[in-house]
Amino acid sequence: MILKSTIDRIMEATDIVEVIGEFVQLKKRGANYVGLSPFANERTPSFTVSPAKGIFKDFSSGKGGSAVTFLMELEKYTYPEALKWLAKKYSIEVEETVETAENKEEENRRESLMIVSAYAAKFFHESLLDTDEGKAIGLSYFKERGFSAETIKKFELGYSPDQWEAFTGQALKEGYLEEFLTDSGLSVKRDNGSLYDRYRGRVMFPIHSFTGRVIAFGGRMLKSDKNVPKYVNSPESEIYHKSNVLYGLHFAKKSIREEDNCYLVEGYADVISVHQAGIENVVASSGTSLTVEQIRLIGRLTKNITILYDGDAAGIKASLRGLDMILEEGLNVKVVLFPDGHDPDSYVRLVGTNGFKKHIEDNKKDFILYKTNLLLKEVGNDPIKKSDVIRDIVESIAKIPDSIKASVFIKECSHLLQIDERALLSELNKMRNAKAKKDSQQQTNRMITPVEEYPVYEPVEEIKETSSQEKEIVRLLLLYGNKVIDWDGIANTYIGPFMIAELNDVDFEHPASKVFIEIYSKEVENGILPEEQHFIHHPDKDIVDLVVTLIATKYTLSDNWYEMHKILVPDEQANMKATILGAIFHLKKHKVGKMLEDLRNELQKEQSVEDQEILLNQYMRMKKVEKTISDYLGSVIIK
Ligand code: CTP
Ligand code: MN
Repeated sequence: MILKSTIDRIMEATDIVEVIGEFVQLKKRGANYVGLSPFANERTPSFTVSPAKGIFKDFSSGKGGSAVTFLMELEKYTYPEALKWLAKKYSIEVEETVETAENKEEENRRESLMIVSAYAAKFFHESLLDTDEGKAIGLSYFKERGFSAETIKKFELGYSPDQWEAFTGQALKEGYLEEFLTDSGLSVKRDNGSLYDRYRGRVMFPIHSFTGRVIAFGGRMLKSDKNVPKYVNSPESEIYHKSNVLYGLHFAKKSIREEDNCYLVEGYADVISVHQAGIENVVASSGTSLTVEQIRLIGRLTKNITILYDGDAAGIKASLRGLDMILEEGLNVKVVLFPDGHDPDSYVRLVGTNGFKKHIEDNKKDFILYKTNLLLKEVGNDPIKKSDVIRDIVESIAKIPDSIKASVFIKECSHLLQIDERALLSELNKMRNAKAKKDSQQQTNRMITPVEEYPVYEPVEEIKETSSQEKEIVRLLLLYGNKVIDWDGIANTYIGPFMIAELNDVDFEHPASKVFIEIYSKEVENGILPEEQHFIHHPDKDIVDLVVTLIATKYTLSDNWYEMHKILVPDEQANMKATILGAIFHLKKHKVGKMLEDLRNELQKEQSVEDQEILLNQYMRMKKVEKTISDYLGSVIIK
């Protein structure tokens, strides 16, 4: 069996466009790529790849799924074989073993570390909100910084009491093992073997994994003492690899996909303030320079990164090299500077959401052009310096995998640098050839040519009653399960758990939907809101197929459905409550209808008068339930 950690690493590294691009010639169309189906003989491309979602859908053959599913379908690989193929492509070492006690233990250890981290986040959060010290010191600090109660809750911000053993003592008392307290970095061992708190008298920023579990912390001090580090961060652990984590990504990922852009800032406070201002596609590298892994994490969601710098020129020059790495990963980079002395956090608080957005729109510059201008300013009349700058810029451009994009930059830079375009191109080709030799394989494998419009291909879904109602529930869970809604005055209800609770008396019939609901319920029980990615990468092909079909095609049931039942829901998001309850109650009504039918059949067959009476009673009760539901739905039952 391949270890879960290896699978995660493979999924993280996999670029579905690159993988499928090895087998299918893909062309970009809007946010997606299209090509001719490798599974059917067709003239008009109906095979679509969505890099943002990491899925493909072939509308001719109906096949769809992740990069793994693609390899399984096309190359007839088994699940592990497909994973190994990807691991090889991305040079990931596959850790694989039979299910030994040791493996199990490794998985259990990781799980234990996450559980203790979740407990710590709760402890710090409660000590912020419910203790006098927390309120007086931590909460008032956050309030002063302009963080709302909602923001504090969403980011699970906390406070660690200014004592040596407040957290550790409580954790031990509640039975958490020393081993996990120290390995997660929450507690530190003294020479005499006893434990003390790593974080004391600090406000706490939990760091979440991609799926939203707490895996580490940053603790900011509140006094201004030069001898104490401003931030104390969790050490590396089995669940926290700093270079693979971006602060805020869990909260940002959805918006990054929707906006097709990711804002990159420096610190925790920047992420939180910008997010609170309603700009949610923002993450931070948390003080360290950006790593390739972090860029790839973003690259799975969008190909556009916009860096929000504070206005410190020295810092900017130092980070130019790092930005080349982003180009190399095939992403587009823009930069935005802020007025001297401001960082995104202070600036958004100063000018508000609209002012902030306007500043970005007015000031965003493409990285290469920005870099050219910046370096040119320093050249003056020095020809040697100028040739260095030219080489430097062309080096950046050479990193761009898409040659058409690169040639556009060459053109623009030739104007800026006042140098003949052909000279730049020959320099570019020299560098490219050198690079191509190094990694010829990767280069030739890319067969992606840009932009060409194809007619949008919209398949018509077959609507079978029960299963499509069940699928509608699955679709809503996928789309909105992790959203919060204000429900009859109760703020911040998560839609997923609410729906699951409402549906606990419903038996799903459609096999894949049934399994989906089981998985979803189980995760919810564990306090996790599963994301679509969780299902896209599920080993069960039927689940992947269901989920991909629901998110890849414009699923038309919803519209028809409400129209058929004369319920006006012009926009399901605008009327979330009606959408959700509508779907739940229609399904329930349908099930009740079936039960009534079964009861009627039984009644006809039943000979004994007593049993008939019992059945009749059941029938009447069921009828009442049906009426309640129908009343709710506002529809009239016509027999
Ligand atoms: N950082 C760190 N250790 C430090 C200083 C900074 O780990 N000693 C990291 C933190 O992740 C921090 C980021 O670098 O969020 C940016 O630093 P800074 O701008 O100083 O922090 P902010 O979060 O913006 O904090 P504040 O605005 O409260 O000063
Ligand atoms: Mn700051």
